[in-house]
Amino acid sequence: MTSTLLVDIGLLATQDASLGEIRDAALVVEGESIAWVGSAASAPAADARVGLSGRTVVPGFVDSHAHLVFAGDRGGEFEARMRGMPYAAGGIRVTVAATRAASDALLRGNVERLAGELLRAGVTTFECKSGYGLDVPTEERSLRIARELTPETTFLGAHVVPPGTSRDEYVSLVCGAMLDACAPHARWIDAFCEQGAFDGDETRAVLRAGLARGLGARVHANQLSAGPGVQIAVEMGAASADHCTHLSSGDVDALAGSATVATLLPLAEFSTRSPYPDARQLLDAGATVALATDCNPGSAYSTSMPLAIALAVREMRMTPAEAVRAATVGGAAALRRDDVGVIAPGRRADFAVLDAPSYIHLAYRPGVPLVAEVWRNGLRVV
Ligand code: NIG
Ligand code: FE
Repeated sequence: MTSTLLVDIGLLATQDASLGEIRDAALVVEGESIAWVGSAASAPAADARVGLSGRTVVPGFVDSHAHLVFAGDRGGEFEARMRGMPYAAGGIRVTVAATRAASDALLRGNVERLAGELLRAGVTTFECKSGYGLDVPTEERSLRIARELTPETTFLGAHVVPPGTSRDEYVSLVCGAMLDACAPHARWIDAFCEQGAFDGDETRAVLRAGLARGLGARVHANQLSAGPGVQIAVEMGAASADHCTHLSSGDVDALAGSATVATLLPLAEFSTRSPYPDARQLLDAGATVALATDCNPGSAYSTSMPLAIALAVREMRMTPAEAVRAATVGGAAALRRDDVGVIAPGRRADFAVLDAPSYIHLAYRPGVPLVAEVWRNGLRVV
């Protein structure tokens, strides 16, 4: 196995509790893993040597919430929203019609394009949901295509009830034949628990069916209104409750007292012009917080984790360190992964090189493409 020594790292923000942040750092990559991390002065020898010109290194971002398998465009809906139209869950059905009509090749091309954008934004691990098929063949092929690009695939048949079927019939289908077809391609099951989507009992039924098939649970919870989503996520041992925009103090306590990660998606609030979630309350209560893109054609058509970090800092009062932590090790926790999200010996060699003296610049210089290099599985890929 060849080893590479990366030197002249101005700041290495490892996200590892004991290693912390190291100035004038170096690291050694061996094969697909990190072999050594420390101060440049004590770096060991390696087969090759790469200088990083004093730049900042952070773990590759872990985007634990994205909807990348879809066809069509909802730019007109966004424009109307910016003129004052409200956002509603029902817009999903527009994308469903386009996605059902699309070929596998077209869907695959879209996912590949967005996965490329994520990578160039420093994301080295991403989750990808179905949910724009809402019939058995399209949900199945959505997940099959997503699986070609990531192991973190999520069956979201319970996104909304499609036209032409009753609620009860549809929930039975999601828990029955659709789950049978989708489970082999999925690691997770998710449900959109919201007015206009699925209520508490329906959400519970869907998650229970998925758990019984060996999938892990995650929930779209409390996005557009207060509701039972967060409590259900905690009670069912979900890895993550996502959005968390409208929380009661009981919801905050439930998250803080559980292993369920609160995943915040500020690009959705940005693109729907909605109030941001109260990240401070969650962090101060001791909840584990993740930041993710929610990239989707309706509520957040962005792959920019750096912009999500900037919004978390500017609009949600997270410190830059908290925001970077949430976008790396927080995302890893939301996917129950301990091999990514941290730069430490034995972890996967996934990291981003920022053209900046500190990760503070991710928020201080919003919209500027600071991700200069991306390394994944020990190889420089950007
Ligand atoms: O996470 N909340 C549900 N799903 C997406 C939006 C889907 C859409 O509008 O197409 C979200 O925001
Ligand atoms: Fe979402």
